[in-house]
Amino acid sequence: MRFPCSRDKVPFSYDQYDRPFVMKALVLSESLAAARARLAEALQAAGRPATDARLLAVSKTRPAAMIREAWHLGQRDFGENYVQEALDKQAELADLDDIVWHFIGPLQSNKTRAVAEHFAWVHSLDREKIARRLNDQRPEGLGPLNVCLQVNISDEPSKSGVMLAELPALAGAVLAMPALRLRGLMAIPAPAESREAQREPFARLREALAALQERFPDAPLDTLSMGMTADLEAAVEEGATLVRLGTAIFGERAASQ
Ligand SMILES: Cc1ncc(COP(=O)(O)O)c(C=O)c1O
Repeated sequence: MRFPCSRDKVPFSYDQYDRPFVMKALVLSESLAAARARLAEALQAAGRPATDARLLAVSKTRPAAMIREAWHLGQRDFGENYVQEALDKQAELADLDDIVWHFIGPLQSNKTRAVAEHFAWVHSLDREKIARRLNDQRPEGLGPLNVCLQVNISDEPSKSGVMLAELPALAGAVLAMPALRLRGLMAIPAPAESREAQREPFARLREALAALQERFPDAPLDTLSMGMTADLEAAVEEGATLVRLGTAIFGERAASQ
């Protein structure tokens, strides 16, 4: 059976798989291509170079086989929210040695060691205590852990993230930790309908990063982790360098996930 997929890019034959798998693989190759095109278009519309932002595929709740498929299609950065789920998938995908794992979910004290040992990035750092544990637990041979500070940019009382007023103090503390490399800021704004309303919190995050860059000129602050399926364009207009797409790449998640 032949399928109109790009066989040359995939180092195994689809013929050995059943039809549902093949259909899923085709859908993923199309949705990933569409997500790349969407990011490229957004960058162009914003007058930014095509290499200015990259795609982080949010693979929480998706099976390891789907991640492997995306990897075969050239995707390298993957974001996970749940530590145990991520560790299980990482074990299954241990042969993909250039895959880059990003932890993007809430992080509790009892999970910091696993994250320090098994991820290249943490986007959801919002407390000094957690930073200190990651710093102490990062294995030396792995080099510094890249971190973004998550900011509660829409001022939502029960949400994760450091408040803007407390950001400089937390950034200063993290910068003093040798096993962490402070790369920038991350936010998940409250949902908004219009492009203008979506842009506003992203603009605040961009300004907060600029203020930190001014205050800490020697820090490697080059990352704005912002923009998801619903608001990628607004985030790119405001300077996103890493957009975190789940639904646009892998399809709808089951309700409540
Ligand atoms: C922190 C974070 N970023 C990005 C995403 C991706 O969201 P979407 O599926 O809307 O692209 C999720 C999904 O849950 C998430 O938790």
